Amino acid sequence: MYIGIDLGTSGVKASLVDKEGNLIASETETYELLMPKPLWTEQKPDDWYEAVLRALKKLVKGHEGEISAISFSGQMHGLVILDENDSVIRPAILWNDQRTIAETAFINAEIGIPRLLQETGNIALTGFTAPKILWVRNHEPENFRRIRKIMLPKDYLVFRLSGVFASDVSDISGTLLFDVKKKKYSRLMLDFLGIDEDKLPKVLESWEIAGLLKEKVAKELGISRPVKVVVGGGDQAIGAVGTGSVRNGDISISLGTSGVVFVASDHYAVDEVNFLHSFAHANGRYHLMGVTLAAAGSLKWWRDSFRPQKSYDELFDELARTDVKDTLYYLPYISGERSPINNPLAKGTFSGFTTAHGLEHFSRAVVEGVVFSLRHCYEAVKKLDISSKQIRITGGGAKSDIWCQMIADVFNIAVQRPIITEGSSYGAAIMAMVGDGRFTDVFEACAKVVKVEKEFLPNSENVEIYEYKYQNYLSLYENIKPFFERLKE
Ligand code: XUL
Repeated sequence: MYIGIDLGTSGVKASLVDKEGNLIASETETYELLMPKPLWTEQKPDDWYEAVLRALKKLVKGHEGEISAISFSGQMHGLVILDENDSVIRPAILWNDQRTIAETAFINAEIGIPRLLQETGNIALTGFTAPKILWVRNHEPENFRRIRKIMLPKDYLVFRLSGVFASDVSDISGTLLFDVKKKKYSRLMLDFLGIDEDKLPKVLESWEIAGLLKEKVAKELGISRPVKVVVGGGDQAIGAVGTGSVRNGDISISLGTSGVVFVASDHYAVDEVNFLHSFAHANGRYHLMGVTLAAAGSLKWWRDSFRPQKSYDELFDELARTDVKDTLYYLPYISGERSPINNPLAKGTFSGFTTAHGLEHFSRAVVEGVVFSLRHCYEAVKKLDISSKQIRITGGGAKSDIWCQMIADVFNIAVQRPIITEGSSYGAAIMAMVGDGRFTDVFEACAKVVKVEKEFLPNSENVEIYEYKYQNYLSLYENIKPFFERLKE
């Protein structure tokens, strides 16, 4: 049997999968999200590790003698730094933290965008790891001086569970320290930040084995046989594997805290206009993606703040009873925004309501706003001459038929939902299978184990209405953008 672990922002999910790829069980454990200042997000790496151990203990019970390999999917870009005793120096700074506006601008200006694109395939964005390193250097010099190891969130789990300091090509692509095309660290970036390569993890392909589960951990879990620790990858690449999006041109969407439009590509490509992320894929090739920072994150914020008594199902039921033509709009920029507007100053916005509007209309606007922002990323993908007949969907939000149908209508494309929507933890289990040699490669594994459960076809009447609303959404942002600038002053 195989275990896939998805280290998310709201919690960790561990899934147990048999050798045919059937999902046997999943366990979820949560941890705290620290927000020391508005738009700052942090988590404690040791909280992640403790949560993983709790999940594994429950999951492994009764299967102690059957586990062959374990692998990972992790929230990307987070900065984890360890000192000479391998102790965590400060809480990890996460992917949706916006404290690095100045450092990001500095990197883009000093190195220059053309050179950055040439060297790393990407420009500096506030979420990426390199600006966070610079922030620590600028604001916490004592912490910077103590750094002996720099790693990403899932790499910390690999390190604690196997003792091996390793990362993989897909996750390390999001650091801006990596020459994605050549799959090696960028000398230019390391010199610019003043980091020695020996402080960085060795980089493996995502299916490669980092090491074996430490004996002490195995004992704690009651496991007696050797368990391979397969490195895995960033949650978007591994989530895409979980939907089977590994062949050239396959497109998938993930509806997690963030929302992502992901395109698998056999070839390395750079987006010089919208700066979609150009990263390595977990199948040995490449991918492009656009990331909206608050997808299910918007819905969680809306529910927790204004509808705490409602379940998510109830929210979807109430919004489905409102008119598709409703005039209330939401810009989902509550954490600033990444793709395609790349504007950390952008803010969440509601516009277009009257005394006739109730909370249910706001629920509709929130979900629509997230789908419009995904469509905005998709348009950037289409500008690169990439198109597909269907999109696969994954992540917590994919469980909602209403959300899937809305994507089909807003994008005017068929949306396919796999049987197993635990995209990233399931994708991680697939990586464990490939690493263990159960399949020749990621392509074979996906072809054999990923199956579609349901297809959502666009409803032509709604397609027309949403096209009009999407254009209004775009113009709302264009009009309000100068106001976001003013808020900075
Ligand atoms: C990807 C990204 C997010 C996180 C969320 O670039 O920043 O999707 O990985 O987990």
